[in-house]
Amino acid sequence: MVSKEGHPKIAVIPVAGRGTRWMPISRSVPKELLPVWRRTSASYAFEEALRAGCDEVIFVISPGKHDVLDHFLRFDASDLGPEYEGMSWENLHERVRIHACIQEEAKGLGHAILCAEHDVANRPFAVLLPDEVLMENGLMMLMDETPAVLLMEVPFEQRSNYGIVKAHEENGRLRIDDLVEKPSPALAPSSLAITGRYTFTPEIFDFLKILQPGVGGEIQLTDAMRLYTQKYPLHGILYRGMRHDVGQPFGLLTASLDFALRDPDHGNDIRQIVQKMLDR
Ligand code: G1P
Repeated sequence: MVSKEGHPKIAVIPVAGRGTRWMPISRSVPKELLPVWRRTSASYAFEEALRAGCDEVIFVISPGKHDVLDHFLRFDASDLGPEYEGMSWENLHERVRIHACIQEEAKGLGHAILCAEHDVANRPFAVLLPDEVLMENGLMMLMDETPAVLLMEVPFEQRSNYGIVKAHEENGRLRIDDLVEKPSPALAPSSLAITGRYTFTPEIFDFLKILQPGVGGEIQLTDAMRLYTQKYPLHGILYRGMRHDVGQPFGLLTASLDFALRDPDHGNDIRQIVQKMLDR
């Protein structure tokens, strides 16, 4: 039986990555603090966790990433969406407890999540990868299904960029049978890719602990999930909304543009400028 089931209240946000796709900028600025329209890129995952009902956020940082924790400790309601307008710093920080744990060595996403084990303290928890900016609240879609993972359809040639799942329908839900991290497209079990939002029961740590390095020589979260599904049920939820991969320049630009076009103060002006550029 899966223990400690229920709606997670803790979100783990790993921000320890080296940001290789953002070199040379990431040598001096953590990629999580790069601006996406008027806010930092990682603030969208943080807000998604809050809106989905989390009241505790654990950032997994590398020894050089204290700036990211500082940013969120100083975080003000004005850094968030309109719903938080007028909320004092104290009220916001009463509503959400923010802390960090350190991943001493870059040994992969699975290892980063394992670093949070002590702070998660045997409770169900969510994981949000801040490189993924979702225009709809993907984490909220998972909450009632815990443990679950958010999925999206990807084109054939992109299968090797993601964790890919094999799933079947069961009582109107997608049950995950198997997962493979970054398979070659022809060997991928489907075109359903993991989209950086997960909810877990604490048993996932048992599997993370026994893993050998996988793809890229790293401890892969996908490999732990693979072992987990052999013992416990894990469900997949299909996300059909807009998503941007802000871990690289293309996605940061499209995310900024998406938010800018939706901004009630600037959307029309931006639209006109973009139109002018297109007409050039
Ligand atoms: C990670 C996960 C992968 C997932 C992806 C989503 O990969 O390992 O399974 O599909 O995030 O963004 P990364 O992009 O960190 O290499």
